[in-house]
Amino acid sequence: MPQREYVIEPMISAKAIAARVEELAGEIERHFAGTGKLVVVGLLRGSFVFIADLVREIGLNIEVDFLEASSYGDSTESSREVRILKDLRGEIGGRDVLVVEDIVDTGYTLQHVVGLLRSRKPRRLETIALLDKPSRREVDIRATWTGFEIPDEFVVGYGIDFAQRNRNLPYIGKVRFTGEG
Ligand code: IMP
Ligand code: MG
Repeated sequence: MPQREYVIEPMISAKAIAARVEELAGEIERHFAGTGKLVVVGLLRGSFVFIADLVREIGLNIEVDFLEASSYGDSTESSREVRILKDLRGEIGGRDVLVVEDIVDTGYTLQHVVGLLRSRKPRRLETIALLDKPSRREVDIRATWTGFEIPDEFVVGYGIDFAQRNRNLPYIGKVRFTGEG
C-alpha cells in the first residue's frame, strides 16, 4: 500500500498525558498495595512509552516483561485474528499482573491476551489502556483503568504508530489524510 499523505492534528498534550499517568499510577499503587511483586506486562510495540512513564510513577516492587501480539500490520484496519509473536520471558502463575495496552479498539487484542494470561493462573490480573475507543468495540471487554476515551479517529504519538511512523511524537495526535486517494 503506498503511503498516503497526512497531517497530524494535536489531540492530547504531553502535559495532559503526564498528569493522567500520575493519577493512574496512584490508583494502581493503591490497588496492588502490599503485593510482593507486580509484574507489569507491556504489549509491544505501542505501549513502550506509556509503560516507561507509568512504572516510574509506581512505588511498588516491579518486574517488567513484554508480549507482542499481531495487530494492524501496516494498515489502519484491525484484524480479528490475534496471534502471539513474542511471549513473556517470565512465569506469572500466582503473581500479581498488570497488562499495559496502548489502545483498546475492537477489543480483540486485549480479550485474547487476557484469556491467554488468565490460563496461566496469576493471583490477580488487571489491565490498563492509555486510550479507549468505545464506539469501535466488537467484543465485550474493558480495561480496569483507562487513560482517555477518544472518538473513532486514527491516532499516533506517545509510542503509537501509523505504519511504524510517528511513535516518537511526545503527544497524541489524530491522523488527517490530505489530498486525493
Ligand atoms: P483491537 O484488537 O482492535 O482492540 O486493536 C488494538 C490494537 O490496534 C492497539 O494495540 C493498536 O496497536 C492498534 N490500534 C488501534 N487503534 C489505533 C490507532 O488509532 N492508531 C494506531 N494503532 C491503533
Ligand atoms: Mg498494539
